[in-house]
Amino acid sequence: MNVSVDIREYLKQCASEVETALQASLPREWDIPATLRDAMMYSLEAGGKRIRPALVMTAAEAIRGSSEARAAARPVACAVEYVHTYSLIHDDLPAMDDDDYRRGKLTNHKVFGEAMAILAGDALLTHAFSLIPQSVRQGVPLEAALAIVEDLSLLAGASGMVGGQVADMQGEQGMTTVKELEYIHLHKTSDLVIFSVKSGARIGGATPFQLEQLTLYARNIGLAFQIQDDILDLIGDESKLGKKTNSDVNQQKVTYPYLIGMQESKALVDRLTEEAKSAVSNAGLSNPSLLLQIADYLVQRDH
Ligand code: IPE
Ligand code: IPE
Ligand code: MG
Ligand code: MG
Ligand code: MG
Repeated sequence: MNVSVDIREYLKQCASEVETALQASLPREWDIPATLRDAMMYSLEAGGKRIRPALVMTAAEAIRGSSEARAAARPVACAVEYVHTYSLIHDDLPAMDDDDYRRGKLTNHKVFGEAMAILAGDALLTHAFSLIPQSVRQGVPLEAALAIVEDLSLLAGASGMVGGQVADMQGEQGMTTVKELEYIHLHKTSDLVIFSVKSGARIGGATPFQLEQLTLYARNIGLAFQIQDDILDLIGDESKLGKKTNSDVNQQKVTYPYLIGMQESKALVDRLTEEAKSAVSNAGLSNPSLLLQIADYLVQRDH
């Protein structure tokens, strides 16, 4: 299926909605060292696809079928972008992937130095947790907000994204198996995607069955998203990606194209996308169409 122009337009609107909210998310009157604030905002405002926030808002609206759910989801949408942005700043550090460009700009440590980049990441992560209670003021039930805090801590932390990043650092060409690579990708990337979809679903008032189906959807699009990221690292266009290609080759990373080849990797992305779409179709949502289209958009993306 060809991705319609509409979904691109829709995602652009989500991005601009979340960018407006991000600008207001760190109160100006707070007494923050100027360089720290600059370093945080430099990466937060550098652009990026804002896919995770879009998933939070779209999942909330898909369940409840109302735009109120979408507005209530905005603070959590910002929170996940904070956590994602911190993960990128740290991922680019010399001790990790040692990359110089991100989102079309110099990486955070190239501009602010390594110490400030580490601290800006720490501050973004911590501030993310203070955004979640704001959703309660927008009408999200307390129990849902509490579950979202727990999900974020588990899915972004040692058993989630950080665990995946550690496994990624420990991966070795010639040693790491496909099963181990799946663990890496599921945790370093799928877990934040799962958080995004699940928190949106909680805000929309999902049933336990809907939460389960949407978690499966997110797991599969998240895995497909990271495999596509591996593919684009080899065959993508730097000017579209906003980051250098061949970072994985230079760092001797274990990736899907490295382990199973390009054709098999592309076939796996397609298979995972189809599985994700059937999970959404089974979930009995008021409005599944945008989630289905996002799955297709992610396979066909070039950046
Ligand atoms: C990059 O994420 C890191 C991965 C987990 C693959 P994105 O491709 O979502 O990066 P931005 O947010 O658009 O810059
Ligand atoms: C990054 O994976 C995953 C996280 C930041 C958690 P990559 O290292 O492949 O992401 P890019 O290619 O640098 O964006
Ligand atoms: Mg990395
Ligand atoms: Mg990297
Ligand atoms: Mg990559």
